[in-house]
Formats: sequence, structure tokens, C-alpha cells
Amino acid sequence: MHSIDDVRQILLAEVADSQIPRDVLKSKELKGLYSKIASIDPSERAAFGKAVNELKNDIEVAINARESALEDAAVVALDVTAPWDINSKLPDLLPTEQGSQHPLTTELEVVIDIFTRMGFEAVESRQIDDDFHMFGALNFPENHPARDGYDTFRTEEGFIPPAHTSTMQHRVLKDGKAKLEAGGQIAAISYGRVFRNEDVDATHEHTFYQCEGVFVSESATLGDMLGTLRSFFEAYYGQELKIKTQPAYFPFVEPGLEFAIEKPASLGGKPGEWLEMLGCGMIHPNVLSAAGIDPSKYQGFAWGGGVDRLVMLKYGIEDLRHFESGKLQFLRKF
Ligand code: PHE
Repeated sequence: MHSIDDVRQILLAEVADSQIPRDVLKSKELKGLYSKIASIDPSERAAFGKAVNELKNDIEVAINARESALEDAAVVALDVTAPWDINSKLPDLLPTEQGSQHPLTTELEVVIDIFTRMGFEAVESRQIDDDFHMFGALNFPENHPARDGYDTFRTEEGFIPPAHTSTMQHRVLKDGKAKLEAGGQIAAISYGRVFRNEDVDATHEHTFYQCEGVFVSESATLGDMLGTLRSFFEAYYGQELKIKTQPAYFPFVEPGLEFAIEKPASLGGKPGEWLEMLGCGMIHPNVLSAAGIDPSKYQGFAWGGGVDRLVMLKYGIEDLRHFESGKLQFLRKF
């Protein structure tokens, strides 16, 4: 027969180790001590009984502590990605499928990956902005009709959900100024949601995604820009492409161009079928000056275009509205 101290040691060790610590109260060692009480000499019986009760109390205290430690550990093990609460019993009906990343997110990651490998930093654009970043900093004169071309929404407070990612240009230029003056260059893309108050059809949405690029150095040229854009499109579509440009007007670039690629045969294109992919050009001196960059010393180029359009061509998606529709039938294809 073990002594009371021996039993204490054995049982406390068991409690500390057990997944169901309360079972230790039913142990044969404890029962043995209780059944021994009757056979103890009456002069020592009260003291012995008291000691056994104290032992039982100590074990209960240890059990309570162990139980709450086990509960805490279970909370830490909570898996928020599990399709049910893993701390409760399994539901009778398990979800048969999990959600997946939206195709635009997946493709944006591809776009960002290509540009970051080319040395561009990537920043997400804002979803609420102001008149200055939408127009003023981008060389749109007050009351100029070019402002109307952007079909901007406005909040009651006068803020603007940006109609293009060019709203990020001024910020990127200001943030990069020090780097430029230290002999480096500015190379950044901005990507994110943009919003236009347009009638919605298969090729127009009120909400879509754009990706913008800004590059500034002492010697950036239009040729560098065309090479950068060509490299991007060839990487994205995984093949050599024909490109062409034509003049276009955007107040924040001079000269301004529209950049098109010939629709690849592998994606159902015919020779001579051109797709306009984005707007681009050399950054206007006024835009550089507004960000405190000396246009007589530095020059740069910028471009911006729709991400949805890129993805539609890649996967042969015929209706832009699918992207924002939340239609599972569409989303499940990706
Ligand atoms: N922001 C213009 C648009 O959305 C595209 C553009 C970006 C043009 C940068 C020139 C330079 O239409």
C-alpha cells in the first residue's frame, strides 16, 4: 500500500498528463486510501481521514487547473479556415466545397508579380479620394471638359471614388522624390478598384480594376515605356505580340498615346485585329512640378489600363459584368 504522499505524487502526475483529468478521482490508489480508513487504529483514524480528504482536495484543485488549461489550448487550436467549428461536434452535413479566390485577384497577383520582377514597387490604390488627386494634381484645369470624360461619382461631402488609378500618381511621385534626388529612379505600379458613373453593358461596368505604372529617371524615354509595356504583355500572355500606338489626349501626359496589341491567334484573333489595352505617355512637366520634381532635370512615363480587360482576353470572357456579379456558375470556372 502506498503512503498518502506517494499517492499524491502519482495522482498529480497523472492529472498533469491526462486529457480527461477528472477520471483521476476514480483511481484505485485513492479508493485504496479511503477503504483503509476503517482499518486504521481509532487513535489515528481522524488524522488519517483528514489527510486523505486534503489529498482529494489537492487533486481536485489540480484537476480544475488542468481542465482550464485544456480549454485554453482548444481555443488556440481554433482554425478559422475550417468550414465548420472544429471545437464542436461535426455537423451532419459537411460543406461539399470551399470558396476560392476571385479570378481578378488571382490575375492581379500575376500582373503584380511580373512588374515586381521588372523592378517596380506595387502599391494598392485608394477607393475614396479627392478632387485634387483625381484632377488638380494631374493637370486638369478647373472646369476643363476633360474632367467630364471620367464620369466621376461624388459623395455628399465632395469626395471621389477614383475613376482611374492615376489618382495615385501624385503620391507615388512625392514619395519617390527623395530616392530620385539621391541618384535613383521612381518605378512603381498602383492597382485597385476604380468607379465610373456609366451605363452598364457587356463592356462597361461602374466598378472595375486598373493598374497604373509610373517611371521617372534622368533619362527615361518613350522607347523605354514601349519596351516595358511590350515585355509586360508578352509575359502575361506568354507569347510574342505585335504592338501599336496612336495619339491620344490625357492632360497628365505629353505626348499621350493609346497602346494596342494584336489579338493573338491562340486567343481567337485574326491578323490586323487590334485591341486597345491602355493609355500612356510621357509624364507632363506640370505633374512632375506639382510633386516637387524638377521637370528640367527628370523625365518619366506613365500608363494605366483595365485589369478586367486583360483577364477577359486571356480567358475568352465575353461579358465584363460577370466579374462583379457574384455568380457562382462563373466563379467556379476558375
Ligand atoms: N488614367 C487614364 C484612364 O484611365 C489612363 C492613363 C494613365 C493615361 C496614365 C496616360 C497615363 O483612362
